[in-house]
Amino acid sequence: MPINKASLLVLESFVRQRGAKGEKKLRVIFLGPPGSGKGTQASCLSEKFGIPQISTGDILREAVTNKTGLGIKAKEYMNKGELVPDEVIIGIIRDRVVQTDCENGFILDGFPRTVVQAESFDEMTKEKNIPVDVVLSLDVSEELVVRRLCGRMVCKECGNNYHTEFNLPKKKGICSRCEGKLYHRPDDEEDVVRQRLKVYKETTEPLVDYYRQKGLLSVINGEDEISNIFNQLVNVLEGVREN
Ligand code: AP5
Repeated sequence: MPINKASLLVLESFVRQRGAKGEKKLRVIFLGPPGSGKGTQASCLSEKFGIPQISTGDILREAVTNKTGLGIKAKEYMNKGELVPDEVIIGIIRDRVVQTDCENGFILDGFPRTVVQAESFDEMTKEKNIPVDVVLSLDVSEELVVRRLCGRMVCKECGNNYHTEFNLPKKKGICSRCEGKLYHRPDDEEDVVRQRLKVYKETTEPLVDYYRQKGLLSVINGEDEISNIFNQLVNVLEGVREN
């Protein structure tokens, strides 16, 4: 049977939304205060669903380590617990979400963080026809976040997160995943953590309502155990995939 243009367009749109195997793509945004567990969960979900974790914090930290122009500029803001300017971050995301590994979706960890970033991302997703499927928001109290961040250890090589009390590596100071050395982030000192929380409250928290109004928000208690939170998040994402 010959295929007409209209059927081809419908097929194209289906493949864009679902992938060649008919599986729905997953485009996910993670919201939550610093230390709520976004990175920990995004990394596990990325492995489980086979889609990349895009962490703006990791991208910036890599640039800082490599002393690139971006890194030199970003370091000043990051070490003070302030946000890097919107136009810099928007440019990074614009280039990243169109890379081939994002064809089946992505998990945004740490973006957007301002209304300007969210609005700009809305335009981007419309223009590129890559709609966001769900926004996951991890709910954690301020005091727990401070405790978590002050004890966090991060792998220099693969970026995996540990905690001196809640999430120990198998060998002290060594990453259980890749044997890399663990370090304490300079912005995890208590005074910087408090400043990051202040910035979160003023600038990023309004995005919870922004996405609630769009009907995309799913709020999860981030104070539970890592594995329980992971199971809940998997349920949410599997539900999104089935619909
Ligand atoms: P970024 O790296 O994104 O930092 P953040 O958002 O402040 O988030 P964190 O990485 O601190 O925490 P998390 O929620 O990922 O928690 P984690 O899983 O590690 O950004 C850093 C900086 O870059 C910003 O301050 C800003 O300057 C700049 N930046 C980045 N994106 C930007 C943007 N879009 N616009 C402008 N500037 C931007 O967990 C924390 C600890 O708790 C770990 O030790 C972990 O093992 C432990 N833990 C996690 N879950 C649990 C649990 N359930 N129970 C017990 N312990 C847990």
